[in-house]
Amino acid sequence: KLVNAANIHVNLGGVSMEMNPQKVLDMETVALDDTNSELIIIDQTLLPGETKYLRLTSQGEIWTAIYELQVRGAPAIGIAAAYGAYLGIKNSAAADYDAFYAEFKKVKDYLATSRPTAVNLFWALDRMEDCVKCNREKSIADIKTALRKEADDIKAEDIWVCKSIGEYGLTLIEPNIGILTHCNAGQLATAKYGTALAPIYLGHEKGYKFKVFADETRPLLQGARLTAYELKSAGVDVTLICDNMASMVMKNGWVQAVFVGCDRVAANGDAANKIGTSGVAILAKNYGIPFYVCAPTSTIDMNCATGQDIHIEERKSEEVTEKWYATRMAPTDVKVFNPAFDVTDAPFITAIITEYGIAKPPYNKSLTEIFAKKDAA
Ligand code: MRU
Repeated sequence: KLVNAANIHVNLGGVSMEMNPQKVLDMETVALDDTNSELIIIDQTLLPGETKYLRLTSQGEIWTAIYELQVRGAPAIGIAAAYGAYLGIKNSAAADYDAFYAEFKKVKDYLATSRPTAVNLFWALDRMEDCVKCNREKSIADIKTALRKEADDIKAEDIWVCKSIGEYGLTLIEPNIGILTHCNAGQLATAKYGTALAPIYLGHEKGYKFKVFADETRPLLQGARLTAYELKSAGVDVTLICDNMASMVMKNGWVQAVFVGCDRVAANGDAANKIGTSGVAILAKNYGIPFYVCAPTSTIDMNCATGQDIHIEERKSEEVTEKWYATRMAPTDVKVFNPAFDVTDAPFITAIITEYGIAKPPYNKSLTEIFAKKDAA
């Protein structure tokens, strides 16, 4: 059920309502509707100016929503893809398991092409495939029900995961410090709380008075449009800065810790996150500020040996040249390089905070231990 959806523009048809005054923490980023036939998402490309819910029914609509960043952030992408797999196969008329599985595989493979970097997408789709296989002795109707439940579980687990990351994160910091974050790894990127923003939200609930600096995060401004918006709506002291101001803010002594989310962590601890993150890590090291990567185990890819194995998405040049102005921001036909992510090398990362504990260098060892802890849980 969508929380507080009643006073927000819900039905689509292209009309949207103005900015809503509610706390983003009270909203759901991704939800299946009561009839199990529509995926409801907040269109994040319109925030903070408009809060508009999209109702998606087909795998094609869900693919587009992920590709266009209407739903974004690694965990939220995984949840949307899981529901996409369910909705994509829900009306299958397959008469037997083999036909059903073949159809499912097509849906899965299609959704897997929506974005390449966040491993949560592939992790969630693999979980959905495992669910089909585990239930192969059941009727097709029962497999469909199991798939819906699996997607619900992926979402429900994410709430626990983010809270746990927040609690571990809080053990690393003092109340009332300055914190810098990049991109958006908050409520809007997850089922609840976020990853990098979870320690901030949990500390805020305890009465801590963090001063948060949100990098605007060019070119798509997730920091300005989403992080500043959600922290402000929660009453957290947040200051928006342009990406190129982080060095000055750190040099001034205003930042005691950096928290970022990530899209994929390799086995050696190299971590891919929103473009610009590696620069922040290098600055943090220069100024002696701890740099923490918040990563659910669903974001850790032990099959990638190092960051060099991570596929970095490149997006269209228009995001850089003409996205935010009515007129172009750059000469016509100028060459553009627009990678959506970069890799922060493990030596710049003070610790990786997961739902099963805090991994410290050397990461090959500590991440393996985190997975052992998960397996034992
Ligand atoms: O391109 P985006 O907006 O999906 O990029 C999001 C990020 O880089 C986040 O930091 C990451 O996915 C972690 S979200 C908890």
